Amino acid sequence: MKIINTILTSTLILTLLISNTTTCFPTPPPIPILPIPSSQQLSWQLSEMALFLHFGPNTFTDSEWGTGKADPSLFNPTHLNTTQWVTVAKENGFSRVILTAKHHDGFCLWPSEYTEYSVRSSVWKDGLGDVVGELAQAAEKSGVQFGVYLSPWDRHEGCYGKTLEYNEYYMAQMTELLTR
Ligand SMILES: *[C@@H]1O[C@H](CO)[C@@H](O)[C@H](O)[C@H]1NC(C)=O
Repeated sequence: MKIINTILTSTLILTLLISNTTTCFPTPPPIPILPIPSSQQLSWQLSEMALFLHFGPNTFTDSEWGTGKADPSLFNPTHLNTTQWVTVAKENGFSRVILTAKHHDGFCLWPSEYTEYSVRSSVWKDGLGDVVGELAQAAEKSGVQFGVYLSPWDRHEGCYGKTLEYNEYYMAQMTELLTR
């Protein structure tokens, strides 16, 4: 009887040891294949849907791509309501709105320091309007993320095609958009 007891106890201890060993050393996760996304990139991916908004002189000339020659006075969105845009986006499951701050026609929807071809030269709000600013505020209030699209192609700007000069113009506008 004593021998049986000893055998049983030993078996129990051995079993415990084995199961302990198994839980202490689980199968290691696979080695990541680089590059792995940063936390910002992951959260960007998880946010899923963004609504891309095309708005500008083309809206008033009913064209897909502007030539860069449209008169700025054409741009006059008297009933602009960016809160409405953001509300529609949010109600339909978009977590972010992205605006064409400047499309191929070169017209800027914010009063850029670097060109006259912008809302500043329009009749809208006597040249004091700012679509980028209004939408950014509306998005922030609603908890919707905001992004801008700045077209590299610019059919209005004279230095387009002169690489160094235009790169500086483009970078200056990008900096302006991201720091105001
Ligand atoms: C703008 O749109 C929002 C959302 O649809 C609405 O609540 C608000 O009354 C509108 N503002 C104006 C001035 O029409």
